[in-house]
Amino acid sequence: MVDIAELKRQAAEKAVEFIESGMVVGLGTGSTAVHATRAVGRLLQQGTLQNIVAIPTSDKTAREAESLHIPLVTFDTHPEIDITIDGADEADPNLDVIKGLGGALLREKIVAVVSKRYVIVADHTKRVTQLGSKAPVPVEVIPFAERPVADYLKSLGARVEKRLDKAGKRPFITDENNIILDCYLNPIPNPQQLASAIRQQPGVVEHGLFLGFATDVILATPTGIEHFRRA
Ligand code: A5P
Repeated sequence: MVDIAELKRQAAEKAVEFIESGMVVGLGTGSTAVHATRAVGRLLQQGTLQNIVAIPTSDKTAREAESLHIPLVTFDTHPEIDITIDGADEADPNLDVIKGLGGALLREKIVAVVSKRYVIVADHTKRVTQLGSKAPVPVEVIPFAERPVADYLKSLGARVEKRLDKAGKRPFITDENNIILDCYLNPIPNPQQLASAIRQQPGVVEHGLFLGFATDVILATPTGIEHFRRA
């Protein structure tokens, strides 16, 4: 039987091979990216990697990194990131991805845009031919704007669901104190057009379409690791 958790670990650890001593590293969020954070912690402890500093993409990742004694920095001292390793909810053949089912899309995108190398790691179930085939596009919204933004997203053709916390009782609240509206569009005919349209509505903080950011996608499959690089 295929062990998805093991595939996630394999993809993340493959990407960690690209990290060199002295680099500024972006640490992703989620059940795949956490394996990269743990591997960085281990390699630092062993002395295989030295002088690494990191910028986490969520409070949760920051706590994980701190527990592993990975030195954390901010953009004030380190405005550029050498390499970021993060997960995804879907990846298409253009290396475009949907992110944010873990709720960290805003900081994840802020980190993505300042990363020289941006490596997406995932198991093979995240591979799609067209974005939106399986996963919704998460849209982070300021709470005050919930209704107008939801109406606007519906007008773009989305089925909109307000994300709830794990208990399913209260709204999910992001690290930046916003809510998330999950937009089901299965699939998205023109992701670029949709991304621009979502952006136009006041109250939208960010969306989970990460288009043109990934330099690498590493997919772990039951028959081995596949590494795709942007030309
Ligand atoms: C976090 O906000 C997300 O973008 C995650 O990177 C994405 O949801 C993938 O998560 P998993 O690795 O847990 O599937």
